[in-house]
Amino acid sequence: KRKITIGLFGLGTVGTGVIKILQNHQEEIKYKLGCELEVKKILVHTLEKARDIEVNADVLTTEPDDLIRDQEINIIIEVMGGIDSTYDLLEKALHHKKHIITANKDLMAVYGQKLHKIAKANDCDIFYEASVAGGIPILRSLTDGLASDRIQKMMGIVNGTTNYILTKMTDEQRTFTDVLQEAQELGYAESDPAADVGGLDAARKMTLLANLAFKMDIHLEDVAVAGITSISQEDIVFAKRLGYVVKLIGIASMEEGKVEISVEPTLLPQDHPLALVKNEYNAVYVHGEAVGETMFYGPGAGSMPTATSVVSDLMEAVKNIRLGISGNSYITPQFRTKLKNDSE
Ligand code: NAP
Ligand code: HSE
Repeated sequence: KRKITIGLFGLGTVGTGVIKILQNHQEEIKYKLGCELEVKKILVHTLEKARDIEVNADVLTTEPDDLIRDQEINIIIEVMGGIDSTYDLLEKALHHKKHIITANKDLMAVYGQKLHKIAKANDCDIFYEASVAGGIPILRSLTDGLASDRIQKMMGIVNGTTNYILTKMTDEQRTFTDVLQEAQELGYAESDPAADVGGLDAARKMTLLANLAFKMDIHLEDVAVAGITSISQEDIVFAKRLGYVVKLIGIASMEEGKVEISVEPTLLPQDHPLALVKNEYNAVYVHGEAVGETMFYGPGAGSMPTATSVVSDLMEAVKNIRLGISGNSYITPQFRTKLKNDSE
């Protein structure tokens, strides 16, 4: 195929970044893939809204079927959010043989295994690098870079909004509400920030990391979650006086076949590497049996970092289409066998 055609669900913070990267890095992308990419249709909520980028009016639509039923569209990028209704659309898209790229951890933490199964049955890929830690290529590092190892533990900061809030409360003595509003304006927070500040967003990401690293099927309900809403300015000042900072830390560990995942505000010594991770940045320690300790660090939220992961996933899907090997995504051989057995 000399041209791969794409449908985009959502043109908000992340979707706009995706279009910008596809436009600004067009030459490099074409060179690396040996083919052209075209965004043919974009699904939005309202056609009347003013946009940060110029797109032809006839590209925008409010009708999902304009993308799903378009036989020319090979890949759908989902960056609009939502869980159940979005699952229904992606399930339908997979049955129409569309490969899926998504940044949606809410969806993947609940429906990930189900979508993988449907994707596999339809020889489609489903990639979701952007759903965990924004611009950090952590999923691919687990499945490719550390593929030969046994991962035992992961620990880190996986929510940009809460890290931004805690940083500004600590370094600039600003109030929770004031900084949350700023994080929303900067495009870091979810449309309903309750999942960010309540720790659920981080819990979803730790679940995705654990399922991939430990090759398990852990459910969100099994994660112990506490957010940062009860952290006061006094708590932060008190911790600071004692030489500590407060960070929202996610931990996932596997010992003797038993997995434990938690997300909670934690006191860290001021010189701890995770204490030095500021603003919307994320960092994850990954401990492997053979490799020992590795640390991944980078922007965890925001338009361009997140879109970088989305477009890199897109390129991976395009490579697979061109090689004729779609349908394997990040799935390990063991899990592939499990899917096969389950579907028989
Ligand atoms: P956003 O700025 O709110 O944009 C959402 C886009 O989707 C908008 O263009 C909206 O249309 C469209 N949309 C929403 N619901 C729709 C529906 N039912 N039908 C049609 N169009 C719909 O959101 P975002 O920040 O880009 O986040 C998108 C996804 O990426 C979410 O799953 C989020 O969790 C994930 N994510 C975000 C970040 C980040 O830093 N922002 C990082 C990693 C992952 P209108 O423009 O017409 O309103
Ligand atoms: N709301 C999320 C965060 C976006 O703040 O980390 C990135 O997943």
